Amino acid sequence: MRISVAIDGPAGAGKSTIAKLVAKKFNLMYINTGAMYRSVALVADKNGLKPENKSEILKMIKTLEMHFENDDLYLNGKNVQDEITMPHINSIVSSYASIKEIREELVELQREMSKKFDVIMDGRDIGTVVLKDSKFKFFLTATPEERAERRFKELKARNIECSYNEILKDIIRRDYEDSTRAIDPLKKAEDAVEIDTTGLDINEVTDKICDEINLKLNK
Ligand code: CDP
Repeated sequence: MRISVAIDGPAGAGKSTIAKLVAKKFNLMYINTGAMYRSVALVADKNGLKPENKSEILKMIKTLEMHFENDDLYLNGKNVQDEITMPHINSIVSSYASIKEIREELVELQREMSKKFDVIMDGRDIGTVVLKDSKFKFFLTATPEERAERRFKELKARNIECSYNEILKDIIRRDYEDSTRAIDPLKKAEDAVEIDTTGLDINEVTDKICDEINLKLNK
């Protein structure tokens, strides 16, 4: 039987860092669904397509081949990880991710991946929609200030010009947009284990998740 692990939570809660570590421990493929929404936003924006230009965007998505290699997203054969995590994409991605038709296309691709591989997926609607039947669901949170601080350090380490206050504002706005949108909003699945990561280090959170997975695997 295939293993599918779902990790949801707001921006900067540590989902991707932790998902990559858990993936290594259980030999799972890490699928960063946020990267898929970011890629759609990137290509649409480059082609001057606004979120309202639904039919053009859907046509465009059909021309995109997305796969994950060593935790990075490859778009039509090119590693776009750096490009899609730039602040400009942060500021536009949620408006594309709120469009029902775009979500349907990407959710379909994500489910296909989970049928082919043992996966750990992170995002906003993994436990509630994409992997609704998963036995392993986690919901990570942390205060907006701590999440902004983590993102600030990450961007600084990559020498990307940024301001803590701008990042905090972006995170608060994106949390609001993601959790109030009509289609598949950010929400904890009823059967997800919630972990408040404020003040916890990466290893503590990873261990909690691995213990929980082992417990259920051995049941
Ligand atoms: O890394 P960060 O937490 O900042 O965000 P992300 O996981 O890369 O997701 C970027 C954006 O894509 C989110 O703010 C959501 O608007 C959207 N998203 C979504 O709607 N559903 C998902 N499963 C994953 C991301």
